[in-house]
Amino acid sequence: MARYILIAFIFCLPILANAADSGSQVAWTPETLNLVKSGDAKKGEEIAGTCIACHGQRGEGTNSEVRDDESIPAIPALAGQLATYTYKQLRDYANGDRDNATMSAIAKGLSEQDTVDVAAWYASLSRPKHPVSNVDVSGAMKLVKDGDGKRILPPCFVCHGANGEGEKMDIPRLARQRSEYLESTLKAYKNDQRHNDIYSRMRLISKQLTDDEIKIMSIYYQELD
Ligand code: HEC
Ligand code: HEC
Repeated sequence: MARYILIAFIFCLPILANAADSGSQVAWTPETLNLVKSGDAKKGEEIAGTCIACHGQRGEGTNSEVRDDESIPAIPALAGQLATYTYKQLRDYANGDRDNATMSAIAKGLSEQDTVDVAAWYASLSRPKHPVSNVDVSGAMKLVKDGDGKRILPPCFVCHGANGEGEKMDIPRLARQRSEYLESTLKAYKNDQRHNDIYSRMRLISKQLTDDEIKIMSIYYQELD
């Protein structure tokens, strides 16, 4: 069943997606893939010195309860993320395809080589586990595993992996990502504030989700082992 929903979804993509809005200038050519592969984690560690203040000592990110200043937004974990995904996001910020004033300024200051080096560094780190809350995430688990045939909602696992581990090239790891960031970025796709997803994949999917579903899915993925 899940397979049929997915196939239907993939066939609908070119029709549903606005052809003028490809979302990103990054193309997964062999040159781009080789460039990302050439990333030097050692050099990336030095560059990451400037990221620590926000993303944490080892790229663990933060939720607001661990920050003193409430005005600082939720900050994603970078540790354990696929290098190709981190590279794409940094290029999208630099090119103005993903909107965030702080990250755009930072990404513009990185050369292509700096970008792949820092992506390699974060890919080499593991992401810490988070304590499990008493929130009931069974509804989220169902959507992740089965999707919903009544809506055009494919199961998340077909792309993000059975354990939220991500998939080449540009499908991010979600497991153990900070819940507040997951919630804010899913809402940003839903409201078209984030529009750098190629073929509008995540914009189409997030629009099918209620805000309550987004909240519990974010907790589900944060707590995933
Ligand atoms: C002043 C705080 C700050 C600094 C310094 C900073 N970031 Fe960020 N970063 C953020 C915030 C906030 C977001 C979430 C923005 C959004 O929602 O688009 C973010 C998002 C990102 C993302 C997107 C992650 C994802 O899962 O999509 C990447 C990649 C990233 N930052 C890399 C870096 C790197 C590499 C550095 C250092 C060279 C850095 N950042 C420095 C605050 C910061
Ligand atoms: C058809 C494949 C596909 C399916 C199914 C899918 N995703 Fe995604 N997802 C993607 C891609 C590709 C990206 C990266 C897009 C980009 O570059 O912005 C992404 C990005 C995300 C992000 C942003 C992560 C970050 O670090 O910023 C979240 C959160 C997310 N997906 C959650 C979900 C959830 C929850 C579901 C199930 C309801 C789901 N996805 C189903 C392909 C998919």
